[in-house]
Amino acid sequence: MPTGHIMMAMTLDGFVARKDHTLDWLDKQDTAGEDHGFTEFMDSIDVIVMGSGSYKTVLGFGEWPYTKPVVVLSRSLVQADIPDHLQDKVEIMSLEPVDLMNVLGDRGIKRVYVDGGAIIQSFLRNGLIADMKVDIVPILIGKGIRLFGELHKDVDLALVSVSDFKSGLIQMQYRIRQ
Ligand SMILES: NC(=O)c1ccc[n+]([C@@H]2O[C@H](COP(=O)([O-])OP(=O)(O)OC[C@H]3O[C@@H](n4cnc5c(N)ncnc54)[C@H](OP(=O)(O)O)[C@@H]3O)[C@@H](O)[C@H]2O)c1
Repeated sequence: MPTGHIMMAMTLDGFVARKDHTLDWLDKQDTAGEDHGFTEFMDSIDVIVMGSGSYKTVLGFGEWPYTKPVVVLSRSLVQADIPDHLQDKVEIMSLEPVDLMNVLGDRGIKRVYVDGGAIIQSFLRNGLIADMKVDIVPILIGKGIRLFGELHKDVDLALVSVSDFKSGLIQMQYRIRQ
């Protein structure tokens, strides 16, 4: 089965987006000249799996930012909802996380970038995440969409590295102890 990998930016109080999915708090950070290892991370993965919430946000950017194939997990969207110019880049699937990983494994996929909020939580609950990079953004926004949520059991983490950047962002890399 492929392994799942997370790279997310989170406010110090634990949110990945405002309730209305806006990312203005992230956009206003002065991170000029800082890559935070994102290019290297993207190069290392075979496919991006995201939830429909994140897909709709990215669609709103106007320009599609990904060169890697994207799978959107959704029980409400169908392939016909994807705009024509993205039909060869985005695939809608409606599968439970374990079943999806098995399908991707059958396709020869080894490393999956798991992106979103609810989607990350369900992959963590299913033990499908191998490691994660969490960028702590120096801001408190009080409410929003959380990165982490309820679990059936504890998830033990091993700290791999901590880096800090001029912008004030701190990146923590953890391996999940299985
Ligand atoms: N800060 C960052 O670095 C960063 C990175 C990426 C995204 N974001 C933002 O974070 C927010 C996350 O929002 P979100 O939690 O709503 O987004 P999400 O995880 O991307 O999408 C959740 C949606 O996916 C669908 N879904 C399908 N199968 C699922 C499953 N097994 N488990 C859970 N959901 C499943 C459901 O919608 P339907 O079935 O109804 O379609 C669900 O509402 C977005 O605004 C996104 O733009 C932030």
